[in-house]
Amino acid sequence: LKALSADLLARDVRGEASGRTPGTLGLVPTMGALHRGHAELAKTALGENAVVVVSVFVNPLQFGDATDLARYPRTTEADLALLDEAGVDIMFAPSAQEMYPGGEPGVRVTAGELGELYEGASRPGHFDGALTVVAKLLHVGRPDTGLAPAGQDGRHAYRAYFGQKDAQQLALVRRMVADLNFPVDIVAVPTVRDEDGLALSSRNRFLSGEERDSALVLSRALRLLKRRALAHEPLDIASVEALVHSAPGVDLDYLEVVHPQTLAVRAENCQDTPFTGQALALIAAKVGPVRLIDNQPLG
Ligand code: PAJ
Repeated sequence: LKALSADLLARDVRGEASGRTPGTLGLVPTMGALHRGHAELAKTALGENAVVVVSVFVNPLQFGDATDLARYPRTTEADLALLDEAGVDIMFAPSAQEMYPGGEPGVRVTAGELGELYEGASRPGHFDGALTVVAKLLHVGRPDTGLAPAGQDGRHAYRAYFGQKDAQQLALVRRMVADLNFPVDIVAVPTVRDEDGLALSSRNRFLSGEERDSALVLSRALRLLKRRALAHEPLDIASVEALVHSAPGVDLDYLEVVHPQTLAVRAENCQDTPFTGQALALIAAKVGPVRLIDNQPLG
């Protein structure tokens, strides 16, 4: 991969004519089963980099139970077609053997306290596994030659793209990169939704028609909070929780209003005082067999 990327960088595949800075490389880590959300990440990367690599790897380390791992959708041919159509230069789809030649690694990245909240509370070890593979992919995806030096402004020529959809993952990746000095810029891409508001997810395919209708209450709840925040009204989370509970077959796990970077709960924003400032609303629920997450910037 490094040799291939370096070769493409040397040939400057997209050229200066396109307006992309020569010697820049964008990496988009995914687990495949690609949809328009992933395509948007690739499109953003293609708009900013001379070479774009999309990795497709269903990372066993971040799955708690073997059944969830086994049933994760794998659609390699369709993924390849989507990336080809988008104009992505390289799809990197390593095997588990290639990523973990010695079996599961003994040394891992730990996500710390933030890794135990929200998604981490119901999926112990999930973020350690996700950060460990992201760390590996960031190393594997960085070519040894051909990258432009970091700019005066401290921006790197190596960028990795993550969706706002997985807000906690994004916050943790940013923290890992800062805490462990990875020479890469992390770029966030806004959540892509279906027309009716449902955030796109590889897991949506497991929803029945009725479950999908019920699942719309997640984005509806977030829109309600956004409206209240924009109007500087109290958020009154309890009433929004009641709305979610009223949808059939929806088992709410959490609905929290948090600091947009640290993800610490902003208790002062939750109840009856008028909303001010910036925050992020996080929601997670089980709908039928599927665990869904969504979030919405407020303010
Ligand atoms: P995966 O779920 O395949 O998601 C890959 C990237 O696509 C993530 O950054 C995710 O936030 C983004 N994404 C997913 N749905 C999106 C949507 N509707 N709109 C915008 N972006 C969306 O997240 C993972 O894989 C893995 O944990 C990974 C980072 C690859 C590590 O294994």
